[in-house]
Amino acid sequence: MSIELKNVTYVYMPNTPYERIALKDVSLTIETGSFTAIAGHTGSGKSTLVQHLNGLLVPAAGQVLVDGVSIHGQDKAAKIKAWHARQQVGMVFQYAETQLFEESIEKDIAFGPQNQGLDEAEVRERVKEAMDLVGLSYNAYKDISPFALSGGQMRRVAIAGVLAMRPKYLILDEPAAGLDPRGREELMATIQKLHKKWKLTIVFVSHSMEDIAQLADRLIVMQGGELRAAASPAEIFADNQLLQETGLEQPQIMQIMQRLYRAGLPVDAQALTPAAGLTSLREVFHVK
Ligand SMILES: Nc1ncnc2c1ncn2[C@@H]1O[C@H](COP(=O)(O)OP(=O)(O)O)[C@@H](O)[C@H]1O
Ligand SMILES: [Mg+2]
Repeated sequence: MSIELKNVTYVYMPNTPYERIALKDVSLTIETGSFTAIAGHTGSGKSTLVQHLNGLLVPAAGQVLVDGVSIHGQDKAAKIKAWHARQQVGMVFQYAETQLFEESIEKDIAFGPQNQGLDEAEVRERVKEAMDLVGLSYNAYKDISPFALSGGQMRRVAIAGVLAMRPKYLILDEPAAGLDPRGREELMATIQKLHKKWKLTIVFVSHSMEDIAQLADRLIVMQGGELRAAASPAEIFADNQLLQETGLEQPQIMQIMQRLYRAGLPVDAQALTPAAGLTSLREVFHVK
């Protein structure tokens, strides 16, 4: 099972003086169970790419398949199949909290499942479950206005609204952007839990090489609308030329470990996470 992009090209405002080719012949596969990060310069096509994964944008050329089904069906039967396929893919936009609008948290999260035609009891069940998944107590928060919450909490409500539709794939465009350090950490921990415990397949766009190194098992690098690389974070962060050309940096801990290594300490210069760096330093300094 997977989401597959086959030779996808996308053009904003075609046949106008503002025409802009935002994706060029992009092919990639998101396997179920994976945790994929997407990185690249601003304007490299990351948001345009992720909006293709659930059919929000329709490619000018190429195809998008969810579990083998085209999400842009032509005839009536194909359109119904395509709709079901798209329901498997939940999309959390950048600054998702700006799309909250209901007077209570419960009503806001209920909006999606209600539109799926589910009955009241099932909708309530979905709302409870989704709030639990993002770490908001149903009883304590259901009647509160989403606008009374902190930025990080509002974003959790927005994510819960997507989870309430029980997607198999969860796509998040810069989920931690604009949050304070604590809010970022909590949100990324929640996303990790959704992957580990609830087995959601995750795709997230990020500018944080630390988050990517900590969480992702695969990293897609976009450059000028093209897919420049797709490999494990370890492979990408070891490729200095690729990093330089695409404007990415190694995670901070890796930069430190490399400097220590160059200064003559026999540490693990490929350590990608603080935990891995610490383990290596303990070994070198014989600290238990
Ligand atoms: N709604 C839009 N109309 C016209 N051009 C757009 C629009 N959205 C994005 N673009 C252009 O498409 C390219 C890719 O943008 P985007 O996918 O938002 O990149 P990223 O998310 O990597 O910053 C950029 O050149 C951007 O200016
Ligand atoms: Mg973007």
